[in-house]
Amino acid sequence: MSIEPVLDPHKLVKELDGRHLIDGELVPARNGRNFDVLNPATGKVIAQAAEGDADDVDFAVSVAKKAQKDWANRPARERGKLVAECGRILTQHVEELGRMVALESGKALRTESRVEASVLADMFTFFGGLASELKGETIPFNPNMMTLTTREPVGVVGAIIPWNVPLLLMAIKVAPALVAGNTVVVKSAEDTPFTVLRVCQIMQQVLPKGVLNILSGFGPGCGGPLVAHKDVKKVSFTGSVETGRTVYRAAAEKLIPVTLELGGKSPMIVMGDADLDKAIAGAIGGMRFTRQGQSCTASSRILVHESLHDEFVSRLLAKVNTLKMGDPLDEETDIGTIINRKQRDKVCGYIEIGEQEGATKNELSALPTDPALTDGMFVRPVVFTNVKPDARIAREEIFGPVACVFRFKTFDEAIELANDSDFGLAATVWTKDLKTALTATKRLEAGFVQVNQNLVVQPNLSYGGVKLSGLGKEASLESMLEHFTHKKTIIMNME
Ligand code: NAI
Ligand code: MG
Repeated sequence: MSIEPVLDPHKLVKELDGRHLIDGELVPARNGRNFDVLNPATGKVIAQAAEGDADDVDFAVSVAKKAQKDWANRPARERGKLVAECGRILTQHVEELGRMVALESGKALRTESRVEASVLADMFTFFGGLASELKGETIPFNPNMMTLTTREPVGVVGAIIPWNVPLLLMAIKVAPALVAGNTVVVKSAEDTPFTVLRVCQIMQQVLPKGVLNILSGFGPGCGGPLVAHKDVKKVSFTGSVETGRTVYRAAAEKLIPVTLELGGKSPMIVMGDADLDKAIAGAIGGMRFTRQGQSCTASSRILVHESLHDEFVSRLLAKVNTLKMGDPLDEETDIGTIINRKQRDKVCGYIEIGEQEGATKNELSALPTDPALTDGMFVRPVVFTNVKPDARIAREEIFGPVACVFRFKTFDEAIELANDSDFGLAATVWTKDLKTALTATKRLEAGFVQVNQNLVVQPNLSYGGVKLSGLGKEASLESMLEHFTHKKTIIMNME
């Protein structure tokens, strides 16, 4: 039976109400419990999600374990073809998935959600084509011995994802894990359980049963048991530093590998010779204002050379001011909502802290006037100027539409300021000078450095941070080989 796209997200979430997907079937939580999922633009319940616990985890992991041997025994390219076929089918669902993720996450359809849905499909297509790269080596160890390595799957992978870009972040875990011959149990984020569940449902048309399973539920109640389960042999996690540490500790008990993609406080350096128009557009894009700043890579520390500072700031403010906040499903909307009340309170708390710390608050754009959106989680973008480098707003991850602009005199000062952070996920430099660009890319402490542009995660560009931003890489061939396989060394004596 083929699944046709459904363009009404309200209808679709109701169809998936109260379900996990295990062994190819939509099933309720074994404990019968559900929890409410809200539309953050209206504050209204859209449907309920199944509240997974240790029993559901145990069921899903046992199913995944059973399916893994057959899956791993298929020729690699056959697995790759099936994963690429998932990419092809998901392409037909881009509009549906974009609308659905806009509804549950509050991210604007035109600027964010539709884009994310198309990148999801692309990631499956990309990784599907890498299957025959699961190669080993031969080693000239001894002429009388044949010495080689092979890449083997790790087994059942637990993937724990957050709510800010649930589709993309699921894809960069699930696609390489499957191609490498693992089976997967995903734990979705509390606020965004439905679109990723729908993706898994669509993929069941292609994948054998039990190869990909997904549970919804809370962190400690469902994510915790998944990490701790004896048959989960690898965990890939994206989320907060605090939860990342909890996951790492639990994985340490079992001595299993983990990949952690955590927070950031990424710097953007605008040198005195930068193309101002492009740098301003880049600051808005890099800061992810259209995603309410809810991005681990957000360029939330903007360092501008003193010769450009005032003009940069006035033009940045004017441009952010033109962004339209509104219903995420409305094509006119540039900026949707914050994910939930807790995050909104956190963001608003930081805005107050910034004022108390003496920074100058520039509050921009305008709240929507539509009465239907009165209870929505909207927050006006804020650009703080005159920020002290040791201020909390300059050091802590806010994960909201709040950027800090700093003024610098010399290149060395900019680099020092940029690196003065507990995080090291991304960094950007705007300059026309080749030597400045090269020196900056060398000296910046970050996993993902860009010059004169602001791309998001791209297929085959390794993505991941240093310092508190995490461990390991995602989205690339390297990520598949290093993080979803282990290497076996084989020595055959031919004498
Ligand atoms: P979180 O890190 O608590 O949640 C991320 C995922 O981990 C969710 O699926 C959650 O259910 C799960 N989880 C929570 N506790 C767990 C546990 N004990 N064991 C296993 N899984 C667990 O993030 P949260 O609370 O949603 O957001 C808090 C802050 O985290 C944000 O303000 C932001 O600073 C940061 N964050 C960073 C993200 C990134 O892309 N790096 C994404 C989302 C949040
Ligand atoms: Mg949390």
